Amino acid sequence: MKNKILTEKYFILAYSNTNKPKHGSFTWESPSNIALVKYWGKSEPQIPKNASISFTLNNCKTITTLTFTKKEKVTKDFKVEVIFEGEKKDAFKPKIIQFFERIEEYVPFITDYNFVLETKNTFPHSSGIASSASGLSALALCIMSLEKEINPNISAEYFNRKASFLARLGSGSASRSVEGEIVVWGAHEILPHSSNLYGVKFPFTIHTNFNQYQDTILLVDRGEKQVSSTVGHQLMHEHPFANQRFSQAQENIAKLTEILQNGDIDAFVNLVESEALTLHAMMMTSNPYFILMKPNTLTIIEKIWAYRKEHDSNVCFTLDAGANVHVLYPEKEKEKIQLFIENELADYCQNRHYIFDFVGKGANLISIFV
Ligand code: PMV
Repeated sequence: MKNKILTEKYFILAYSNTNKPKHGSFTWESPSNIALVKYWGKSEPQIPKNASISFTLNNCKTITTLTFTKKEKVTKDFKVEVIFEGEKKDAFKPKIIQFFERIEEYVPFITDYNFVLETKNTFPHSSGIASSASGLSALALCIMSLEKEINPNISAEYFNRKASFLARLGSGSASRSVEGEIVVWGAHEILPHSSNLYGVKFPFTIHTNFNQYQDTILLVDRGEKQVSSTVGHQLMHEHPFANQRFSQAQENIAKLTEILQNGDIDAFVNLVESEALTLHAMMMTSNPYFILMKPNTLTIIEKIWAYRKEHDSNVCFTLDAGANVHVLYPEKEKEKIQLFIENELADYCQNRHYIFDFVGKGANLISIFV
């Protein structure tokens, strides 16, 4: 299917009623990811205004078990219980039901079942690490496992693509969490098979300088964000710099595509930090305007710059839509940078809390009971 453009129709299959299992469960673990070129701005239904590219993480994951039982009588509504870290969480139900409504067209068999969704994260709750990417990709993968029971002939490629497609309908960045190590979401002319509908693995050979690239997440602020990503994306509609930003991101994807192949870490550092600050500049120049960085975010950035200069290091930072700082560095600088983090940056984290992570290979199926 070289260079064939797939549309939404590709994700609608015919189902045989005879294969629908009565009862069972699937458990998937799916990681978070950190964008290097950021997605900020979208149109309906979750179509990004520019392509984005991310490192899939290894340690920051959501583990989800979806238990399903066939309804006695098929009804149109969705029945789902949500258990988060061992406790019933009715507050999460509306979001899950909204997700089910969005994906029903592509997985119509979900109205045949009652579901129990048990989920937990490997990173602390309200750490400011977005769990939507890992959480929605884990749930999408569980639903794809059910689809595979019903349609056993679907290929591994179709499975992953559709999992990413479904995850995207829940949270855009979740489309980049199904696979590793570097994933692109959003159509870009130089990246074969890239699509606005789902994420694909970076299609070229990655330079060894980026092997096991390290990401330590400094938890600067665990509080609830004042402005959600949903609102932030919306503010890009009337944004005075939106069009320049979207074309800049497309250009940065082309530049990063070269960098990832030629191993130019100086250029990587420059591009990644510029992307992070541009994301936050978009927030500061929206109307209403807002700032998600905290004083400690800036202190950490300055310390990283000073360390880099003084030690001729390749350490750099990126930011998500929040105050936490992702410290990125090559594997071979691991020992020194981890000491630097402990000695010089930990004081600027809430309760000196940070999480060591690195680039990972994507989601894993943990168990199937059917
Ligand atoms: O997936 P959302 O809607 O939560 O948006 C995520 C946006 C950023 O994390 C700021 C950037 C990105 O590409 O992940």
